[in-house]
Amino acid sequence: MNFKTLHENDWRLRVFDSLSFPTLILDPHRNVLAVNQKLLDKFAVTEAQVVGKTCREVFHTIFMDPDLPCNRHTCPFDKTLKDGIGHSILRQIQHLNGSFHWEDRVFSPILDDNGHVIYVIESIRDVTRSKTLEKIFHDIREFMDRVIQSSTSAIVAAERNGKVLVMNRAAEELFGRMFRRSDHINITDLYPPGVAREVMKKLRDDAYGGVGKLPVTRFNILTSRGEQIPVEMTGAIIYEDGKEVATMGIYNDLRERLEVVKKLEEAQGQLVQSEKMASLGRLAAGVAHEINNPLTGILMFGNLMKEKLGADHPLQSDLNYILEDAERCRDIVKNLLAYSRRSSATRDSFSLNTLVEESLRLIRDQSLFLNITIRKELSSQWLPVYADKNKLSQVVINLITNAIDAMNRSGVLTLKTYRNDDRKTACLEVSDTGCGIPEENLSRVFDPFFTTKETGKGCGLGLSTAYGIVKDNGGDITIKKTSPSGTTFLLELSLDLNNKMESIG
Ligand SMILES: Nc1ncnc2c1ncn2[C@@H]1O[C@H](COP(=O)(O)OP(=O)(O)OP(=O)(O)O)[C@@H](O)[C@H]1O
Ligand SMILES: [Mg+2]
Repeated sequence: MNFKTLHENDWRLRVFDSLSFPTLILDPHRNVLAVNQKLLDKFAVTEAQVVGKTCREVFHTIFMDPDLPCNRHTCPFDKTLKDGIGHSILRQIQHLNGSFHWEDRVFSPILDDNGHVIYVIESIRDVTRSKTLEKIFHDIREFMDRVIQSSTSAIVAAERNGKVLVMNRAAEELFGRMFRRSDHINITDLYPPGVAREVMKKLRDDAYGGVGKLPVTRFNILTSRGEQIPVEMTGAIIYEDGKEVATMGIYNDLRERLEVVKKLEEAQGQLVQSEKMASLGRLAAGVAHEINNPLTGILMFGNLMKEKLGADHPLQSDLNYILEDAERCRDIVKNLLAYSRRSSATRDSFSLNTLVEESLRLIRDQSLFLNITIRKELSSQWLPVYADKNKLSQVVINLITNAIDAMNRSGVLTLKTYRNDDRKTACLEVSDTGCGIPEENLSRVFDPFFTTKETGKGCGLGLSTAYGIVKDNGGDITIKKTSPSGTTFLLELSLDLNNKMESIG
């Protein structure tokens, strides 16, 4: 080793030689003064080949390094010389066989007593391993980021103090926020008041899937617009050395699923209702049939007795009561038979407006209309339907008499017709300003014999009969709205699209 000019002790030379990475000592003019054994071994050169040469000659010409950091702006040797502190440069070097390695060149100054740089030590460290690990780590991180971002479930992670660290695209959409790390969103901003605390409590509670874990649980989250959305979430606490450092949650929007469940329940409800109606219909038909014959006998013999006893007989008034009640029974039986769809149907094409006008004409002279204002809002559009007009007239009359009863005989009755082009139906709304239907009765008003009217006033067959007739005619009858200030019934019938004539009645 040619190191005489340094006058170093023997042990220092030994240290220099035993450094595990190739090292050179340069003077301020870039001349190589000394190199250690590691460098000679690595580049397979002799001391004589390199000492006394400039670093450029050594690396560029002897070591055949094509890509030196030899320009005035990037040269770490120049920088070290200039400011007297260490500099380094990281380089990726490609070998002839195409493989790469990473090299970290560290330049350390040796200063004189006045702080001037008199020598520069250059060490060449192979950092390929740590760079490779760094790259693997970086790739895994990028991959994880992509997995999180492409998840269709919303994912949010937050520091222990609640500061949100990660929010994927699905979460941005669900919570209605654009996430930037600098935004300082707190996890409590993402839930209605008190819910974040409840989530944390469950996460830490052994009773919910073990400490640190939250199995699928339903909560409401809060969007930036203040809207609450039902979600199904799972969560976890992230630990480092046994300490809580963060939390994460995965959320799935439940709105669509709940909507489907609601529709399914409604459909099931309708199915139950129509099954109930069908079995009650069969029962009603049987009862009506059984009662009809004895009733005919009662009325016939009663009338005969009435005639025979003569007008002045003291039992005349009792007999009248019997006959009136028997007639009421006959009306009920008639309704029951209509409800049970025993009577035959005759269908025709007619306009819904005509049905309304004719039904009104049938009953409007009755005293019950005395204090009722009738408002007709009949559509000017063509509303042809193909159905049994006589029976549907009974439906309209039932709806009108119910409306009048509900208004206690004074108020406004509105009859409105219109065309629903989406559903291809002709619609009639019968609205009143009456007492409304209490929530608990809503599911029962179409049941046969359900009535809230006093005995003798109603027998609860009006709506159930109407329901049967409308269903028979392929239509629908529903309560559109009801409140203590009034009720609207909606009757919908399919438009008779084959009928283009505007002159039918
Ligand atoms: N427009 C309405 N406003 C408030 N309640 C109503 C209205 N229509 C019906 N109802 C309620 O629904 C019940 C059932 O009506 P439905 O027409 O089937 O029988 P009813 O009118 O009581 O008797 P019936 O029609 O056989 O004479 C009524 O008793 C009433 O409580
Ligand atoms: Mg009625």
